[in-house]
Amino acid sequence: MRISFLLNGDPVSIDTAPHTRLIEVLRKDFGLTGARPGCLYGTCGFCSILFNNELALACMIPAFRVEAGEVTTIEGFLQSREFRDIEIGFHRAGTVPCRFCSAAKVLTTHWLISRYSSPTAEQMQQAVNAVQCRCTTHSRFTSAIRYSAEVRRKRVHGRKR
Ligand code: FES
Ligand code: FES
Repeated sequence: MRISFLLNGDPVSIDTAPHTRLIEVLRKDFGLTGARPGCLYGTCGFCSILFNNELALACMIPAFRVEAGEVTTIEGFLQSREFRDIEIGFHRAGTVPCRFCSAAKVLTTHWLISRYSSPTAEQMQQAVNAVQCRCTTHSRFTSAIRYSAEVRRKRVHGRKR
């Protein structure tokens, strides 16, 4: 099946079986390896991407579903101005995600603070739970989200709150 979509802002087209997982398409057809295959059944969050501007799990999306859609991977997001907010936020929190989870943590944080400029403790907890990292404390990831939101608010609105 021929599938055309926008990938990191560029129009692309591939021939693939309709039910191939998007994570496989990204890695094999486009060499985009930032989204990591972990559990492959929608639990660990390591394969996170943005699909039509929503946070999504690339292991759970069959290729045919992205037809005419828009996919952003961490590789594309790293080029954006929004990434810098998160980079600063994580740095302030003193946390450096490993290569396995960094795409998921960065995109999850971006998605959350794009929707809620001042996310509640519960919203942050949900975001933290969406990425199954067992090597960093939850509080550190929560601080990284809080600082990132602060940086984003300041940049966009010129204020901290
Ligand atoms: S690999 Fe997709 S959620 Fe675990
Ligand atoms: S899985 Fe990456 S820091 Fe825990």
